[in-house]
Amino acid sequence: METRPPPGPLLEIDQVSLAFGGVRALSGVGFEVAPGMITSVIGPNGAGKTSLFNTISGFYRPSAGAIRFEGRDITRLPAPRRAALGLARSFQNIALFRGMSVLDNIKLGRHAHLRTNVFDALLYFGRARSEEIALRAEIERRIIDFLEIDHIRHAPVAALPYGLQKRVEMARALAMQPKVLMLDEPVAGMNREETEDMARFILELRAEWGVTVLMVEHDMGMVMDLSDHVVVLNFGQVIADGTPEQVQRDPEVIRAYLGSGDHEDLRRRLRGARGGNAPAVAADTDDGPADDAAANGAIAAASAQGASKAPATTAPASTPPGKAAAT
Ligand SMILES: Nc1ncnc2c1ncn2[C@@H]1O[C@H](COP(=O)(O)OP(=O)(O)O)[C@@H](O)[C@H]1O
Ligand SMILES: [Mg+2]
Repeated sequence: METRPPPGPLLEIDQVSLAFGGVRALSGVGFEVAPGMITSVIGPNGAGKTSLFNTISGFYRPSAGAIRFEGRDITRLPAPRRAALGLARSFQNIALFRGMSVLDNIKLGRHAHLRTNVFDALLYFGRARSEEIALRAEIERRIIDFLEIDHIRHAPVAALPYGLQKRVEMARALAMQPKVLMLDEPVAGMNREETEDMARFILELRAEWGVTVLMVEHDMGMVMDLSDHVVVLNFGQVIADGTPEQVQRDPEVIRAYLGSGDHEDLRRRLRGARGGNAPAVAADTDDGPADDAAANGAIAAASAQGASKAPATTAPASTPPGKAAAT
């Protein structure tokens, strides 16, 4: 069943522009996501990261440019069709059905694969259908095991701490059996332990599920440790694109985050965040904030400055995503 992806990028963002009235959220954004890689998009508040995600997943239509997935132009495909092709995502503000159980929320992920025409629907009954149901249940069981949420499978989502809700959202996205998993700020608002767990899951995703990851994240320690490829946005434009080492050294990136602040200090902190070969996400346990936390603090402060220049958005216009995916 598995079709081999063609050589070349799995996902191609080609000169994409997007405007909200007079606000140019994205201007000629272009980069590629290679199969099997963890690609991160970073940038100060208001840089256009969420807008970019919404454009890639089909909630917004770009005013110019193209998005290609496995070589196919998907720029005009509606969001559910993109999801069915293998683009699944989580949201910056969790989009789960809060009154429903964890398991029921995860089951909604499978709807991306439900048959859409009447002939398929007819074939879907009988033996094929029961086999598919058994297969789905097996996939859901594996996801629940993998994300270590077996103990809460029947709990209503609203009763769960934030970190677990984020994990349930990831489980639902995985239930779509995506080729590319898009994570919008997967560790935002998490404590250190929750962040370390999430970082481990993201790394294991690739090994166990063969999933390519595209994420937006503010936690610099995590981005630099996990990513193979980092794309930096500022005011809707790509200002750097390369390995974590390359973007950390890029003067424009440092300027974007720090304004006219002390670049050398930030550089030192970012280097400290790497902490040699030790996995920095798991580096500091109980002995107070380590260098990566300090660097995060510096960048968070810088982001806050950036936010006052480019107003942060509450992005109210996106469709309630869970609902869109479920219908
Ligand atoms: N739905 C929207 N309506 C109007 N302006 C928006 C909307 N979404 C985002 N913007 C604007 O687009 C720019 C990029 O926002 P966003 O993509 O949310 O940035 P980020 O996720 O990097 O913080 C900001 O200037 C923001 O105010
Ligand atoms: Mg955002």
